[in-house]
Amino acid sequence: MIERLIYCSRAKIPMESLLVIADILAVSQRNNRRDHVTGALGYARGRFVQVLEGAPTDLDRVLRRVEADPRHTDLHVAWRAPVEGRIFSDWSMTAPRIAPEQEPKLIEAIENCDQHPAAAVEMLRRIASGGAEADR
Ligand SMILES: Cc1cc2nc3c(=O)[nH]c(=O)nc-3n(C[C@H](O)[C@H](O)[C@H](O)COP(=O)(O)O)c2cc1C
Repeated sequence: MIERLIYCSRAKIPMESLLVIADILAVSQRNNRRDHVTGALGYARGRFVQVLEGAPTDLDRVLRRVEADPRHTDLHVAWRAPVEGRIFSDWSMTAPRIAPEQEPKLIEAIENCDQHPAAAVEMLRRIASGGAEADR
């Protein structure tokens, strides 16, 4: 059984620190491949939003590590539920580049993550899949 979750958190890293995000991404890809976890990570204006998909026990394990990470704080799981299949099956973890015109929408999605988690998941899916669709 696969579950999907989405959380938001507040970054405690130097502003727009691409090196920190690259480091998080590299470790995440290595671990998530091992743990059969997939997902996407977004970063905008000092906030993270991350979708994680996998077996419940695998998700619990990843979440425990991520929650303890001092590079962010105020981690709050907005939604978690069993799902039919993976949305991010192609990525152990992707942190797609956010085009400047997409940034306001991503910020909005992060800010409304609790009330509209599905919209935030969809936003990350669109950005990750790239192409013209991402601009809509
Ligand atoms: C925003 C954010 C997202 C992260 N996402 C993941 C992830 O998806 N998978 C993962 O294994 N670690 C993730 N990490 C890193 C973990 O907190 C932790 O540093 C890492 O899992 C430790 O791996 P190691 O024990 O192999 O060194 C994330 C960290 C942050 C700050």
